[in-house]
Amino acid sequence: MTTQRVDLTINGATYSGQVEPRMLLSDFIRQVARLTGTHVGCEHGVCGVCTVQIDGMTARSCLTFAIQAEGHDIRTVEALGKQGALHPIQQAFWEKHGLQCGYCTPGMLMRAEEFLASNPNPGREDIIEGISGNLCRCTGYQTIVDAIEHAATLSEIAKGGGVR
Ligand code: FES
Ligand code: FES
Repeated sequence: MTTQRVDLTINGATYSGQVEPRMLLSDFIRQVARLTGTHVGCEHGVCGVCTVQIDGMTARSCLTFAIQAEGHDIRTVEALGKQGALHPIQQAFWEKHGLQCGYCTPGMLMRAEEFLASNPNPGREDIIEGISGNLCRCTGYQTIVDAIEHAATLSEIAKGGGVR
């Protein structure tokens, strides 16, 4: 089996692996970088649970080959918050009960962060449209929309420096 060295920058750190050229970014993140916060569901680009950010834009990591991500800045859910200090969007999801099983949550958070960076004061319909590419089997979406609406009001975001 042909393998190739791949070096990826994920959350500011470099992770290297000798992998098959067909390895998906989602698999590299989970199996090589051991960052298991990024979940995998459909593996067909439908559900959005594998959503990460590449150069600040959300992408389906199950539709991207790891080798395609070389030279780019990848962010996963592990980049949000710190031990004992939730990111404002995580705080909002916690306060508004924006999750049940949590399987969709990492992808939802990464999409919400990107969305709020370009829509700091969104209306409810904007949020519904904004997360329409991310599926949730549990919540009925109302509490997720509540959480993103709340996140927009939290002080760190309101400072105008984006949501990072
Ligand atoms: S696992 Fe990537 S979109 Fe569903
Ligand atoms: S909280 Fe279970 S899939 Fe969204």
